[in-house]
Amino acid sequence: MNIDLLIDALAKEGFHSGQALAKEFSMSRAGISKWINKLRDAGYDIHSVPGKGYCFAPYVQPLDTDKIKAQLKGKASCIINRETGSTNEDVKRFFRANLGNRVFATTEKQTQGRGRRGRVWHSPYAQNIYFSLGLKLDLAISELSGLSIVVGLAIADLLKQKSIPIQLKWPNDIYLEGKKLGGILVELEGAFEPPCNVIIGVGLNINMPQQDQQIDQAWHCLSEFSGQVINRTELLIELYQQLTTYITEFCEHGMSQFADKWSQYDLYYHQPVQLMSGEQVQTGTNLGINEQGGLRLQTETGEVQINGGEISLRPV
Ligand code: ATP
Ligand code: BTN
Repeated sequence: MNIDLLIDALAKEGFHSGQALAKEFSMSRAGISKWINKLRDAGYDIHSVPGKGYCFAPYVQPLDTDKIKAQLKGKASCIINRETGSTNEDVKRFFRANLGNRVFATTEKQTQGRGRRGRVWHSPYAQNIYFSLGLKLDLAISELSGLSIVVGLAIADLLKQKSIPIQLKWPNDIYLEGKKLGGILVELEGAFEPPCNVIIGVGLNINMPQQDQQIDQAWHCLSEFSGQVINRTELLIELYQQLTTYITEFCEHGMSQFADKWSQYDLYYHQPVQLMSGEQVQTGTNLGINEQGGLRLQTETGEVQINGGEISLRPV
């Protein structure tokens, strides 16, 4: 059995009877039922309705990969796997094989989706957006410290145009109504001198139902906010366009015009916060960001500025 073909068959609209699938895959209905259960065990949400057959749950809507490839033609190489470990790793492999300067990797499902410090990024099949944009840039790594801020602003501005009031938590988290909607994982490869490889990974919760209990903190998704299932393909293409526009501006003119935008989205603007880095904790008032995208913290002994690193910000 080619399991990918079975997923493709189920992804087509409507119900698929055990009998029709058995015929298509030249096996018994019991054999199909066994494979359906294997898919369920692997996290695919498949409904079975007596007298009708199998179908994916309504919030499971596969991407239109032809449309994505057509939109990106001539702009970026495209890697679209139905399932992958992590799209950031797909981009790194692409660069290692020297296949080009600009690549866009997306997928329906990640089995090794990661957040910062190797934390798990829950990435179930055909419900959310997971993508990575890979760029070879003629900049030094030291010039890119504000990049995840720019990526967050690109996403927030795009969703604001759709009346979705995004909040951003320094340095890499996307929130909606105080709950985590998505995250950004920027990875940089290179020496001190330009050029460098930039890998920008974005995960955004789109249609994932709240019955999903795999995430250990409060989280949100766009469909719950808007009350309807969202077209992921359209949004993915818009995100690519918005991101590349913002990154081009960032490469040409730096952070300055972006830094001013931050406060309107800042989840804890002018609020008491704690900054945690390993065992170290600093407490103060969040004053937003500086011109490099670093955090400004008003402490009892004066203002300090923190320019990146593996730091977590929490409300006090
Ligand atoms: P910080 O970056 O400030 O340390 P964080 O706790 O959100 O914040 P991250 O590394 O940014 O940590 O993100 C990973 C965390 O996000 C996971 O430990 C999990 O709690 C949560 N998470 C995992 N998958 C999802 C998802 N699909 N949607 C929302 N949250 C998720
Ligand atoms: C975070 O909040 O710490 C960042 C989460 C980033 C998740 C995205 S999903 C696409 C890309 N591939 C990954 O493994 N991680 C990023």
